[in-house]
Amino acid sequence: MNVHISPSLLSLPVNETKEWVKKIDGKADSFHIDVMDNQFVPNYTLERFSPPFIAQLKTKSKKDVHLMTELPSKYYNTYFEAGASLVIFHYETVKNPTLEIRAIQNFGMKAGISIKPNTPASVLDEYLDQVDSVLVMTVEPGFGGQPFLSNQLPKIAQIREKAPDLDIAVDGGINLQTAKQCLDAGANVLVAGNAIFNQPDPMAVLGQFNQLKNR
Ligand code: DX5
Ligand code: ZN
Repeated sequence: MNVHISPSLLSLPVNETKEWVKKIDGKADSFHIDVMDNQFVPNYTLERFSPPFIAQLKTKSKKDVHLMTELPSKYYNTYFEAGASLVIFHYETVKNPTLEIRAIQNFGMKAGISIKPNTPASVLDEYLDQVDSVLVMTVEPGFGGQPFLSNQLPKIAQIREKAPDLDIAVDGGINLQTAKQCLDAGANVLVAGNAIFNQPDPMAVLGQFNQLKNR
């Protein structure tokens, strides 16, 4: 499986977001954009990462939108218009995942489904042949900079066993060490915020993440 690196914009200083995106553009497979409504998670980014703001980021790297919101379908259209290639919703927020997956794919975007740490991987079984990717949260969603939950690793392996060709992303506490554990477990998409941006030389760390592609 190809390894993808997806820096999370949440860890950037708000007023430096555009310049960092410009600097990194083309050197990451995608930008990871955390949209939070202060209901599903105790944090709010709907203004910071509003669809008009995301639309202004004209990038070669793809834009992945991770919806940590109730009623995610409210946002598919606007983030499609903002140029998202992948929209990820949370299993815990919807009644019928199949309808959500179809709604996202009908826009021509890829559809991803995410599970929180306490949600078992088995809930995804019936959707694995419908979705374009799954995202395993390796921290409780809401904030960057939390420690990696290694008890999530078996979930990655369980999903990989059932879906050999599916993109499996990990999000939360991913640094160069935990990234390797996730790759070994079967993940292939690495979302990383603080491990890249909370460093003296983010570009060097991004380079090291990109090196993981040649393992
Ligand atoms: C957390 C977000 C993550 C966050 C990851 O709820 O979904 O994308 O930005 O940040 P780090 O890599 O610092 O844990
Ligand atoms: Zn995220």
